[in-house]
Amino acid sequence: MLKPKRIGILTGGGDCPGLNATIRGVVKACYQLMGEGNIEIVGISDGFQGLINNHCKLMKPSDFYGILTLGGTILGSRRTPFRKMQLVEEDNVDKVAQMKNTYKEWNLDCLLTLGGNGTHKTANLLSEEGLNIIGLPKTIDNDIWGTSVCFGFHTAVEIGTEVIDRIHTTAHSHSRIMVIEIMGNKAGWLTLYTGIAGGADIILIPEIPFNMDCVIGAVQKRADSGKYFSILAVAEGAFDIDEANLKRKERTQKRAEAGETTVTARVAKRIQEATGFEARTVVPGHMLRGGSPSAYDRVLATKFGARAATLIQQEKFGYTIAMVKDEIVENPLAEVAMKMKFVAPENKEVVTARNIGISFGDG
Ligand code: F6P
Repeated sequence: MLKPKRIGILTGGGDCPGLNATIRGVVKACYQLMGEGNIEIVGISDGFQGLINNHCKLMKPSDFYGILTLGGTILGSRRTPFRKMQLVEEDNVDKVAQMKNTYKEWNLDCLLTLGGNGTHKTANLLSEEGLNIIGLPKTIDNDIWGTSVCFGFHTAVEIGTEVIDRIHTTAHSHSRIMVIEIMGNKAGWLTLYTGIAGGADIILIPEIPFNMDCVIGAVQKRADSGKYFSILAVAEGAFDIDEANLKRKERTQKRAEAGETTVTARVAKRIQEATGFEARTVVPGHMLRGGSPSAYDRVLATKFGARAATLIQQEKFGYTIAMVKDEIVENPLAEVAMKMKFVAPENKEVVTARNIGISFGDG
């Protein structure tokens, strides 16, 4: 009798809707392609932390029932920064060696890593160390290089849009300036999409440093035309031109000194001071990552998962699944691992937004 294939699965980094749907997609497609009796799934707890500490368990087919719509991850997730992976001195733990040991001890034939940029870096490191790895791109930030979309992103856009819709009506009633902070430290995709979908007047993203005077000018211009409220969708990582040359730490420190803890606090304070209009901040935060995946993400997760199962069957490792021109493909992990996908200033959604009069605060 053939030895069953043993597949390890972990979810790394910040969670997002669609992780469970992807796990389910992989497992179901593996059962279909290779037969349930020929597959064993090993669930690894809390991302790479579970691999380092050998927190793994053999899963039953029933563990994957009813998880399509479930938010979060049934495996648990943790941030284990890539820069610390090869540092042994800090905690006296050879993390790479321990991960390799766990893989060996559990007789894994391959390891599936569901995660964002950090997860992809460590996945590539393990691949270079000789492990059979397949990556799957998740993140509400949608900033993984080589794929037009990551699962979790569209659900977060839906949630962010709903937030802006609800803020819109109250902003209008009270003639207030509402500055809404959207997750995304380095890339502004989520803010760009939710801003357009929610009808924001001003969108501020890290890729386009803004000029505070332009932002204030855009708010004032609306007021001059009789619109006494404004909606600003602001990425948590956005910064103005005065801050553009500062490192992130310096920026945070300077803001703290000025009593402006976040970019939204800074923008709201400056608008209120300059115009006299009441400006408030709203931070939906982790709400953007919570709950059930949208229909789009359920389909995407299932397609990504099914593709991963095909790679497992073909024993094609060292790749991560991607969407390119509407087709599900795989990119070499080594190509994806050290890059990120940013919003280019000439990006078509940016151009569309500008064409309908949305300001990016850049003049
Ligand atoms: O996973 C992506 C993300 O949600 C970013 O948009 C955000 O900056 C970060 O994670 C927040 O991470 P944490 O949940 O660890 O605070």
